[in-house]
Amino acid sequence: MSKQMWKGSTLMAPVPVMLVTCGDFQQPNIMTAAWTGIVCSDPPMAYVSVRRERLSHALISRTGTFALNLTTKELVKAADFCGVKSGREVDKIKHLGLSVSLGSILCPLLDQSPVSLECRVVKKLELGVHDMFLAEIVAVHAETDLLDEDGKLHLERAGLIAYSHGDYVELGKTLGTFGYSVRKKERKKEENPLRRAAARRPLSKKRRTPKSGL
Ligand SMILES: Cc1cc2nc3c(=O)[nH]c(=O)nc-3n(C[C@H](O)[C@H](O)[C@H](O)COP(=O)(O)O)c2cc1C
Repeated sequence: MSKQMWKGSTLMAPVPVMLVTCGDFQQPNIMTAAWTGIVCSDPPMAYVSVRRERLSHALISRTGTFALNLTTKELVKAADFCGVKSGREVDKIKHLGLSVSLGSILCPLLDQSPVSLECRVVKKLELGVHDMFLAEIVAVHAETDLLDEDGKLHLERAGLIAYSHGDYVELGKTLGTFGYSVRKKERKKEENPLRRAAARRPLSKKRRTPKSGL
């Protein structure tokens, strides 16, 4: 692979296209963010980087809370709109016919999103044009229609989207599952017929729900 070297930039893909809700009951707002993600598993922590001039920056600074709402293909137009219009000019929630409900720490959560991570800010880092709000994820709100009878979440049915180099893209087919590369090798090594029979038995409920361990 031959490569050209360019100066440092934010050229990373795909990245999230997250609907970030913030504010309070009187003044809820939504903005779209790509500079967001998970930074720690235990305690569960996330971040969102927001430019100082955004209304969302002022609201998150005031309340110390925000929610990361996963975006679906049904919400793609709303995500673009919330990324080009400020809540200073238009009530985006009303304009788009969306609605919010208050979460456990009174942060507005987007009703139309299948999963909302409710976050409490623990630190604000001034990085440059963006300030990074580092936060603890205090609660996860998941759409019950996506849960099966064992309580397992089927996010693959949600129609999630990502952002890639200026394009909103729908997530495609599954190419593997967590740990599948090593699981295949283990199966090949099976010599003992008793172990082979055990491997054919269905996994217990606990093992069927893989934990990423990231
Ligand atoms: C796909 C996409 C991703 C964006 N990511 C960010 C981001 O990570 N941080 C940010 O400050 N602005 C980001 N923006 C811009 C804000 O969403 C936009 O300025 C918005 O109007 C701010 O709304 P507010 O003033 O109501 O807070 C993004 C816009 C789009 C379309």
